[in-house]
Amino acid sequence: MVADTSEVGAVAESAVWELLRSNPEAVLGVATGSTPGPLYQALASRGKKFPTVQAFALDEYCGIDASDPNSYRSTLLREFARPLGIPAEHVHVPSTSNDCKDNAADYESSISEAGGIAVQILGVGTNGHIAFNEPGSSFESRTRVVELTERTRRDNSRYFPSISDVPRSALTQGIGTILEARKLVVMAFGVGKAAAVAAALEGPVTTDVPASAIQTHPDVIVCLDLAAASSLTRSHR
Ligand code: PGA
Repeated sequence: MVADTSEVGAVAESAVWELLRSNPEAVLGVATGSTPGPLYQALASRGKKFPTVQAFALDEYCGIDASDPNSYRSTLLREFARPLGIPAEHVHVPSTSNDCKDNAADYESSISEAGGIAVQILGVGTNGHIAFNEPGSSFESRTRVVELTERTRRDNSRYFPSISDVPRSALTQGIGTILEARKLVVMAFGVGKAAAVAAALEGPVTTDVPASAIQTHPDVIVCLDLAAASSLTRSHR
């Protein structure tokens, strides 16, 4: 727990840097949204390029063109891959251009064929979701098409002209898929995440709070600013 977002980004980044330094061909699981920005910026500030790293996205909206600036492919290329010198063809995002659900199994296979994800970067939604696994998602769930809750659509509407422009469904890695990553780096910022963070870390392990699934993973680093940590009641190192 540290005071500001750039410090949190630096702490989270050190776990990722450790991986990339020891294995330039590492397979990284990447998140979108505002949360991972400070980590990507800290990594870019090292001034090193990572031409042999492979990255897999957690999710992608359905019904959005890959070239749309709000697609997660575009977002990852802009905010993650280009600043780090990762070639676009090394950035794997579920294809949602045709029928979204046809691509779920292929995406799972491509993660396995790459050797699985070494480090997965994760944000937490205000409703406790991870990737687009909304409350109620099974901890065994695999990559699939999901309906987004109104809360998630409202939270994400800040990127779109209006809430009616926010897609209603997405293709997301399942919680079971995410838990197969060998290490999880979970980040959260701001008081808006405090309740979800407390439920995820200190509440029961329950599908009502998808992020509580991280309690079952053997290797997790949680990086929070003070506001996101403000509803925790126990001491966490
Ligand atoms: P945010 O979203 O980074 O935009 O806050 C996190 C998430 O929904 O997983």
